[in-house]
Amino acid sequence: MPEADQEGKEYFLNVPPTSEGFFLKGSNSLDWGMKNRLSHIFSPKTGRTVMLAVDHGYFQGPTTGLERIDLSIVPLAPYADTLMLTRGILRSTIPPTFTGGVVLRASGGPSILRELSNEQLAVGIEDALRLNVSAMAVQVFIGGEFETQTVHNMTRLVDLGNRYGMPILAVTAVGKDMARDARYFRLACRICAELGAHYVKTYYVPAGFDTMAASCPVPLVMAGGKKIPEADALTMTYNAIQEGAAGVDMGRNIFQSEAPIAMIQAVRAVVHDGLNVKEAFQMYQDLGSQTGAKEK
Ligand code: R5P
Repeated sequence: MPEADQEGKEYFLNVPPTSEGFFLKGSNSLDWGMKNRLSHIFSPKTGRTVMLAVDHGYFQGPTTGLERIDLSIVPLAPYADTLMLTRGILRSTIPPTFTGGVVLRASGGPSILRELSNEQLAVGIEDALRLNVSAMAVQVFIGGEFETQTVHNMTRLVDLGNRYGMPILAVTAVGKDMARDARYFRLACRICAELGAHYVKTYYVPAGFDTMAASCPVPLVMAGGKKIPEADALTMTYNAIQEGAAGVDMGRNIFQSEAPIAMIQAVRAVVHDGLNVKEAFQMYQDLGSQTGAKEK
């Protein structure tokens, strides 16, 4: 038995307790566990995130640059705030000593050989909790053939997430023939947020991204998309941040870069440190010449 405590004296009767608002847009009313998990994804210092997306294999197999995730991605992990991946890759390949955030791909089903919008939930929340992940991601195909099914995947996951304190990321997926403009993405992002997603991932568009961010009441993260020249990817990142993105969830433009470790650091510098495009591209070139291009 410890000795009995003396009566405490330091009550600071003139100091009111602090009551801070949470740093993320639209997230102040969430529960403690949800906010704590979100703080493993978004930096409380900058309010932003660099998510490294490597989940492409869930529908297209060993994607270029992801053939050996142990060799290509594990060395990049220390530079990412968060990894976005499947439970198969997490368990088989990512060292459990990784202390950054993990966003678990939670929907799937069809391969690239079939209709991609025909997804269902593909992970139980119990397994996500066992894996100690910071959020679960679900694809939503607004306007797609299986639109309602994918919206219901999301709302079922949001109900589970709210029950267990697990944030849900809605990923707006666009069918091949659909217009990728601000009007479409405003619709898609807003539907996801209205139906309970805790944050949303969507594509950058050159005209009107600011209106997409403004009309989405929760944080909006920019998707990377297909590989483009590094200077263009840094420009897209810079513009998205200026126009209201709370960070990026970027895959191919990092791991398919000639110098992935340099690229992820340059992206971080734009997202977290306020570098402009010229400064960030210079950083990419300088670090790239030090670290060298990746082995083929
Ligand atoms: C979307 O369909 C998936 O989440 C992708 O596998 C991934 O997020 C795409 O990343 P990126 O387009 O930047 O390569």
